[in-house]
Amino acid sequence: MSAGLVQAAYIIAAVFFIMSLAGLSKQETARSGNYYGITGMAIALLATILGPHSDGVPWILTAMVIGGGIGIYFARKVEMTEMPELVAILHSFVGMAAVLVGYNSLLDAPVLATHAEHMIHLVEVYLGVFIGAVTFTGSIVAFAKLRGLISSSPLNLPNKHKLNLAAIIISALLMKWYLGGDGALFPLLLMTVIALAFGYHLVASIGGADMPVVVSMLNSYSGWAAAAAGFMLANDLLIVTGALVGSSGAILSYIMCKAMNRSFISVIAGGFGQTVSVSSSSEAQGEHRESSAEDVAELLKNSKSVIITPGYGMAVAQAQYPVHEITEKLRAKGVKVRFGIHPVAGRLPGHMNVLLAEAKVPYDIVLEMDEINDDFSETDTVLVIGANDTVNPAALDDPSSPIAGMPVLEVWDAKNVVIFKRSMNTGYAGVQNPLFFKTNSSMLFGDAKASCQKIIEHL
Ligand code: TAP
Repeated sequence: MSAGLVQAAYIIAAVFFIMSLAGLSKQETARSGNYYGITGMAIALLATILGPHSDGVPWILTAMVIGGGIGIYFARKVEMTEMPELVAILHSFVGMAAVLVGYNSLLDAPVLATHAEHMIHLVEVYLGVFIGAVTFTGSIVAFAKLRGLISSSPLNLPNKHKLNLAAIIISALLMKWYLGGDGALFPLLLMTVIALAFGYHLVASIGGADMPVVVSMLNSYSGWAAAAAGFMLANDLLIVTGALVGSSGAILSYIMCKAMNRSFISVIAGGFGQTVSVSSSSEAQGEHRESSAEDVAELLKNSKSVIITPGYGMAVAQAQYPVHEITEKLRAKGVKVRFGIHPVAGRLPGHMNVLLAEAKVPYDIVLEMDEINDDFSETDTVLVIGANDTVNPAALDDPSSPIAGMPVLEVWDAKNVVIFKRSMNTGYAGVQNPLFFKTNSSMLFGDAKASCQKIIEHL
């Protein structure tokens, strides 16, 4: 394949990637968005493998078969609830790839025409390795936190912001040494170690409830790491793709920050979770009332309007199907049923929307938090299905809570609130929820799917 043809294929692939992002931005077009992405990636891979610059095609194919096999295995095996962990660990691969490409492109440096080009290449290598190393360890820590391998509470080293600043300043000084030594290996190695520690510290300092922002931030970093690798390899498509991932990840982080009422700048600086005390109690804060499936069914039959607010527990229980059945039964009886979706409900952006779409809940009754928050006061019954942090009034009332300031679904304004969960345990942020002890709240204990099925019987 000639170089011109490869460039043309790259442009077509880039257009497919842009169409893919556009498709993925709406539920109705998400499936075609995925197909555009797959097509773009297939074109990109074929053009790269068949292009004039690739050697050792059998090696590449062998690596692709092994990598593809592992990818297919994990993609088939992974549960929806484990998706964020998978995404986090995949980001770490991008980070490691950028580090390896960086070292390779320094040790096996291309011959460049001018001194300026050579220096630019050295800078690309340095920045690529730095971003890649930060992404690598940061993503591994995010993976370990999401999987519960390490505690999700923030690491609070003394002077943590100063430590971060020192890491950046030392890395900048090492860059001077590295460039002065015409790409000296030792300062690059030193910087890599510092960047690895920096990435670890950046993510370890962030508390549990702020993890969604971290995952989308690492998504963005992995894009920039890929773009840096594109510069080092002089591969235009990798630069475009990396920039697309980097900027869409940054936009997502910005949206998440707004949703969680966090400052974007302090997120980028890392360790923004420490500004609030983490001492909030996980102990019970009063008496709670228990309900039964039969009572809830009766309550629903006598309601004119119902809002369902799902959370992580619905994903664990896979309760979206019976939840849809309840919805249909109530709608058939003339009850107005809608869903209220918190932007960080579950464990990944859009988690609840994906589950509800899977169960074929109509899109037009699934509303965002901002669209529905004012309507709770005119609602007869709210069903909180496996949600906890996202419906916690402490976020608004208790400035010392780790989730203070995060906007939440104000379900307690409704006449009746029924909370589906298995125990009085806390949610992801580890704080008790005063909602459970309000006079208009009742608890329906048990697995959310089983509880919904029992309600269906009584309906
Ligand atoms: P959480 O606060 O995590 O609470 C989920 C609740 O579901 C738990 O209290 C649990 O109580 C209950 N549950 C678990 N399994 C259940 C089952 N089989 N049946 C019934 N209930 C079950 O959920 P949320 O309100 O969706 O909040 C999400 C949290 O995750 C936020 O803190 C958010 O910051 C964080 N987070 C979000 C993301 C993204 S991007 N969405 C990523 C990482 C972290 P029991 O154990 O008593 O049953």
